[in-house]
Amino acid sequence: MAAGPLFYLQNSFEFPRVYHHRFMPANRFNGFKDFGVGIGLRIPHYNHIFEKKPVVDWFEIISENYMVEGGRQLQVLDQILERYRVVQHGVSMYFGSAEPLNREHLHRLKKLVRRTNTPWLTDHLCWGSVDGRYSHDLLPMPYTFEAAKRTAQKVREARDFLEVPIAVENVSSYAEYHVSEMTEWEFLNEVVEQADCGILLDVNNIYVSSCNHSFDPFEYLRSIPTERVAQIHIAGHSNYEKYILDTHDHPVLDPVWQLYAKAIEMAGPTATLLEWDDHIPSFDEVHKEALKAKQYIPASSAVAS
Ligand SMILES: [Fe+2]
Repeated sequence: MAAGPLFYLQNSFEFPRVYHHRFMPANRFNGFKDFGVGIGLRIPHYNHIFEKKPVVDWFEIISENYMVEGGRQLQVLDQILERYRVVQHGVSMYFGSAEPLNREHLHRLKKLVRRTNTPWLTDHLCWGSVDGRYSHDLLPMPYTFEAAKRTAQKVREARDFLEVPIAVENVSSYAEYHVSEMTEWEFLNEVVEQADCGILLDVNNIYVSSCNHSFDPFEYLRSIPTERVAQIHIAGHSNYEKYILDTHDHPVLDPVWQLYAKAIEMAGPTATLLEWDDHIPSFDEVHKEALKAKQYIPASSAVAS
């Protein structure tokens, strides 16, 4: 672990007993609602959910898993939609790729948006395709003004076509580009201001990148236009000797909770989602881990109906 971020974490953290923020629980990018604390809908949990009907504030689905014509996946989704709120999260829009948006992908996505009635839609601030070939990776971008302009234009195009608010997610990264003209957080600001879109703030990704690139994660947080934070991601990661990997296969670690506490203090109560994508434990274990987030959310905040 890099010494820099740890130093900042130890010295910047304030336990969130007193809240000075404006209690802005919602904004135009999340339908003016604080949806509470949700978890990702995952196949190993289907049976538990249908049998036990647990109370869950909301589920996040990976859009690409349900962009199909009929079949079991859509049956499951429709059953979930009868009982729960669902928000769509995508992994292959590649707003940062140089090529135009994939129109066929957009058409299929719009069908799903209409099915789920998702209040907002998220995807990553990254690239991952060249000439129609897809890497299936969330690759970090060069932080240039030209890239910000092009990316923002694609976010606008997608939003106008899909007719739903879009929030872009900061990714974790393990490499940087010499051509970058600004920091990652300045780049995020450029994109969301030009696109006039929301932010899916992944505090685990901020932490992972801060360790890999030795920056202060709290400086990143302080630069975020909080009125654009539509949703927050929390997740666990793996700590190796020389780098940290964003593996989504652990409980949330303390430094990430500390960043989460600060994010909530700054942005107000915000729809929060625990990502757990590998070595997935029981539904109850994942849900219990997610609900720890509630201790950082002011008691006066009520989940919107
Ligand atoms: Fe995330």
